[in-house]
Formats: sequence, C-alpha cells, structure tokens
Amino acid sequence: MSPYTSFALDAWSARQLGAVEHALQRWVAPPEPVPAPAGLGDAMRYAVLDGGKRLRPLLVMAACEAVDGNPAAALRVACAVELIHAYSLVHDDMPCMDNDVLRRGKPTVHVKFGQAQALLAGDALQALAFELLTPDDGSVDPAVQATLCRMLAQAAGHQGMAGGQAIDLASVGRALTSEQLHDMHRLKTGALLQASVMMGASCGVAPAAARDALRDYGAAVGLAFQVVDDILDVTADSATLGKTAGKDAAQDKPTFVSLMGLTASRNYAQELLSQAHHSLKASELGHIDALSALADMLVNRNT
Ligand code: IPE
Ligand code: IPE
Ligand code: MG
Ligand code: MG
Ligand code: MG
Repeated sequence: MSPYTSFALDAWSARQLGAVEHALQRWVAPPEPVPAPAGLGDAMRYAVLDGGKRLRPLLVMAACEAVDGNPAAALRVACAVELIHAYSLVHDDMPCMDNDVLRRGKPTVHVKFGQAQALLAGDALQALAFELLTPDDGSVDPAVQATLCRMLAQAAGHQGMAGGQAIDLASVGRALTSEQLHDMHRLKTGALLQASVMMGASCGVAPAAARDALRDYGAAVGLAFQVVDDILDVTADSATLGKTAGKDAAQDKPTFVSLMGLTASRNYAQELLSQAHHSLKASELGHIDALSALADMLVNRNT
C-alpha cells in the first residue's frame, strides 16, 4: 500500500502493469513469426522490455480510469507513450547527447548494439508508437485515433520533448534563468508526462473544466518529475538509479539543483505536488485515487 494515501497503489499498479507488460511483449517487434531485419528487433526489445518504472503508462491508465474511458484504447496509449519515452532514452544516452553507458541497470543500447542500430531502434520505436495508436480492428474510434496521434506528435516533437532536448544540449555550460530552466524542463520531460494524462483522459469524455484541471495536474507533475530527476542525480547512487549518478554536474548541465540548491529544489517539488493535488480536487472527477497516489509516488520517489 502507498505510504502516502490509503489507496492501494502497489496493487493497482501491479494490475495495470501486468496488462502493459504483456501488450509490450506482444507488440514490440516480436521475434515470431517474422523477426525485424538484421537484429533491429533485438535492439528495440532491449530498449523497451524488462526495465523502467513505467510511470507514463500508469498515468495514462489512471487518467482513463478518472473519466471512465475505454481501457482497450488506454492500453494502446500507455504502450505508445512508453515507446516514445524509451526511444528518447536511447537517443539521450548516445555519445552525441549525454554519452551514458548505463540505463535501467543495463548497458545502454548503443553500447550493446552499436550507434547506428541504436539510432534506428529509436526511429523504429517512434514509428511503432503511432502504429499502435491507429488499429484497424474497430477497437478505437477513428476520430479518437486522430486526436491521440496529434497529442503524441506535439508532445514528442519540436514543441515538446525533442525541442526540450535541443535546449538541453544548447545549454551545457550556461547558467539559465529560472524561466529558461522551467521552459526546458516543461518541454523535454513535462510535455510527455502531461500528454500521458491528457491522452488517457481522451480515451473517455470529460467536461471542459475537468480537462483543464487535468491539464494543470499534468503540468505540475510533469515539471515536478524533472525537478526530482535533477535532485536524484545528485543524491542517489548509480546502483539505485540504474543509470550513472552525478552526470549533470560532470557535464555542466543547468538543473534545478544548480540553479536553486538541494533544499529549495526539494521544497519546490513539494509545492508542485500540492498544486497537482489542488488541480485534481478542482477536476471534480470521481475516480482520482490512482492519479493522486501516483503524484505522491512520483515526487517522493528515490529512484
Ligand atoms: C528518465 O525517466 C528520463 C527523464 C525524462 C528524466 P524515468 O525516470 O521515467 O526513466 P525510466 O522509464 O524509469 O527508466
Ligand atoms: C532526459 O533528461 C529527458 C529525455 C527526454 C530523455 P535527462 O538526460 O536528465 O535524463 P536521464 O537523467 O539521462 O535519465
Ligand atoms: Mg539528457
Ligand atoms: Mg541523460
Ligand atoms: Mg537526469
């Protein structure tokens, strides 16, 4: 049970992730009956399966639950968002970006399979995400499919994750203002987390005011998530994180910790958590227990 609320987050998450892991195993370049060419499927599966906290899929499923949405659509969305995330990690770790050798407790994809294969695995995962959102079996209304594709494209592209990553790389060795740092974090990490919430909610119907409140919730947890990632880079060790700790300072990246220090960063994460809870209440939706507990877990995590 979550230490933060009376909601049984662990049991709820285990149930959701059972379905998500099963779907990913089935949908990500399965080796049978026909494997992807030249070992590309192995690199794709290595990048996605067997690792990661799966926070974005959990946010999708929780938001869908909050609006009593279509769980079959949400399962596709959960996997699609995780594929975009996994692709972003593969590219983020490459020598031309953060040059990391450890991810999810394993050698990074380019270390294991080579840079060209890592690049292609990322490309293929991104394409597969959109394929998953557009089934032709009648399980997801075509208008909903189009909406979901647009939302994911915006969150992943130049107005979202890729744009934020560009700012990140352009900011090495520079002291950003608070506003610039907020913009970078909102784009590189916040956009996909917020999209997870809003795409989950788009698997059902909610009043405009509730959607606005969920958007605010997603913005708060999305930003808080990267503030905590910056904190953990300083306070946690590599074995716990499953990735190399201390990289931000070593590479002279501007972070919330470098801007405001550890204590103020921790306080800021808690302030964003309060904002997230406030927004959830304001949504007046019925089933917000999972979203509420996920916000607590995401901000108070130690990995
Ligand atoms: C790490 O994300 C990269 C960031 C966006 C900060 P996660 O901490 O969600 O990584 P996994 O999925 O658990 O490996
Ligand atoms: C990466 O941010 C955000 C992505 C879009 C992948 P970081 O570079 O801080 O992520 P980690 O710390 O390597 O997981
Ligand atoms: Mg990076
Ligand atoms: Mg990195
Ligand atoms: Mg980081």
